[in-house]
Amino acid sequence: MRQACKITAAARALAGEMVRPGVRTKEIDKAVHDFILSQGATPSFLNYGGYPASACISVNNVVIHGIPDSRKLQEGDIVSVDVGAYYHGFHGDCAATYACGEISPEAQRLINVTKQSFFEGLKFARQGNRVSDISHAVQTYVESNGFSVVRDFIGHGVGANLHEEPNVPNYGAPGRGPRLIRGMTIAIEPMVNAGTYEVQVLKDHWTTVTRDGKLSAHYENTVLITDGEPEILTVSGEL
Ligand code: MF3
Ligand code: CO
Repeated sequence: MRQACKITAAARALAGEMVRPGVRTKEIDKAVHDFILSQGATPSFLNYGGYPASACISVNNVVIHGIPDSRKLQEGDIVSVDVGAYYHGFHGDCAATYACGEISPEAQRLINVTKQSFFEGLKFARQGNRVSDISHAVQTYVESNGFSVVRDFIGHGVGANLHEEPNVPNYGAPGRGPRLIRGMTIAIEPMVNAGTYEVQVLKDHWTTVTRDGKLSAHYENTVLITDGEPEILTVSGEL
């Protein structure tokens, strides 16, 4: 898991460094794909349920599952990159939202609150707690900052399969769901909208957009539950 997650985090960092005006999202996807293969791993998302690329690249009002294409990024865009790598039997899964050139202060605040909401949830990712203690912390922090958490998509266990039990929602009352035990690996992944939490999946069956057209951001790491502090596995020097 550690090795798979290191490769995954390095792929995210590589993608993040490519985000600038004029770059096509499919160029970023190709770099992610080639990097993952160069590490002796395979892209977890490619062909998963028919998904056609190695990365999900979701721009502005696209919440998740944006399919890389020939569109060029523009100054002021916010760009969510989600990647997964499968190495020696295990998956890593992580995402982050990056600024393309100069972005508005409100867009930057959305990115910051989304990332911090992950860390608010992480405080509860401890043996003996229940899964929804994480969920509740994420939701409380996001809503106290005036944004909303997506309901229709959630975090998840990750390991030999990309998606495993338990479900890890970003909303809900505390004290519910399975108890966390050391050795569990989970993907905590707040998807945060500037306006309504409602989303819509487009006709391509993947691209998920905000119902109101407002911005959305995403931040995700694969986390190991221990008998003490949780360990973020998707690290590459960049967090
Ligand atoms: N990180 C996302 C997830 O947890 C990405 C999945 S994209 C898919 O589900 F193509 F693989 F479905
Ligand atoms: Co995930």
